[in-house]
Amino acid sequence: DALAELLRTMPKTELHIHIEGSLEPELIFELARRNGVALAYPDVDGLRRAYAFTDLQSFLDIYYAGASVLQTEADFFDMAMAYFRRAVADGVVHAELFFDPQTHTDRGVPFETVIRGLTRARETAQRELGLSSALILCFLRHLSEEAAFETLEEALPWRDHFVGVGLDSSERGHPPEKFAKVFARCRELGLRLVAHAGEEGPPAYVWSALDVLKVERIDHGVRALEDANLVQRLARDRVPLTVCPLSNVKLRVFDRLSDHNLGQLLASGLVATVNSDDPAYFGGYLHQNFVETFAALPALQAPQAYTLARNSIEASFAQASAKARWI
Ligand code: HPA
Ligand code: ZN
Repeated sequence: DALAELLRTMPKTELHIHIEGSLEPELIFELARRNGVALAYPDVDGLRRAYAFTDLQSFLDIYYAGASVLQTEADFFDMAMAYFRRAVADGVVHAELFFDPQTHTDRGVPFETVIRGLTRARETAQRELGLSSALILCFLRHLSEEAAFETLEEALPWRDHFVGVGLDSSERGHPPEKFAKVFARCRELGLRLVAHAGEEGPPAYVWSALDVLKVERIDHGVRALEDANLVQRLARDRVPLTVCPLSNVKLRVFDRLSDHNLGQLLASGLVATVNSDDPAYFGGYLHQNFVETFAALPALQAPQAYTLARNSIEASFAQASAKARWI
């Protein structure tokens, strides 16, 4: 229908996609074969059946196991190219990809292998698909701040290959302020700053992401609605929220898509965007997130579609000249 067509064709960015979360079961098995890695699942269907999550941690356990098949530069290239093709099909003009170096370096895969594969995919996507992109290095928050500093050291020779840093993995019990020093250092280095907060964690974690880490965007942030003062702060400063509706249902942040608060976030004047998070695990890429969410929430119509697309462009770290072209 016309709304679905609008949702697909309107120029938009994707700002919350973990590239390791785009690894489809078929590619997991292909890479396992290519690299001689043994998997705990007999086949693609057996693996897919394990994708029944009860919370963030139950997902992360399977997500990290899936990422263990990634070993060579070609593996990272193939994974990112598969995502870029799907993004273009969904009307994405610019994508900012999270990657988790510690998931790979802790298994003995060099940082250089990861960054070279992803960078070569970005260059190919720009050249062959006309797709703009950037990389955001995420620190795993269940690990120490010292480990984050070590990762930053390894990454610095590749400083011009990524635009910023983020914070992901297990949220509860790992508040943003645990990473105050490393984020301060990244800020001095001129890196852009984002952090996951308010997905499973309380509004207090959104406050400390803003006030201690000084991030420019909040990843998820849906629990901010529990704190009226926080909503006012996010609205006043136009801090974007990278909301991931299908992820929120799969990880039981909301019971049903019809319970999702995206409509309220927009109605409260917040700069919300729609994103896929880990599309291979959560039931779909960006367009699927848009169509299912708009179907479930009557408050979302064409005006909200335009607002979400414009928000995604405004909230991106792309050059101002590129943003002007897309809006
Ligand atoms: N939350 C936290 N960490 C993650 C996620 C998420 O949704 N996806 C991949 N790592
Ligand atoms: Zn995420």
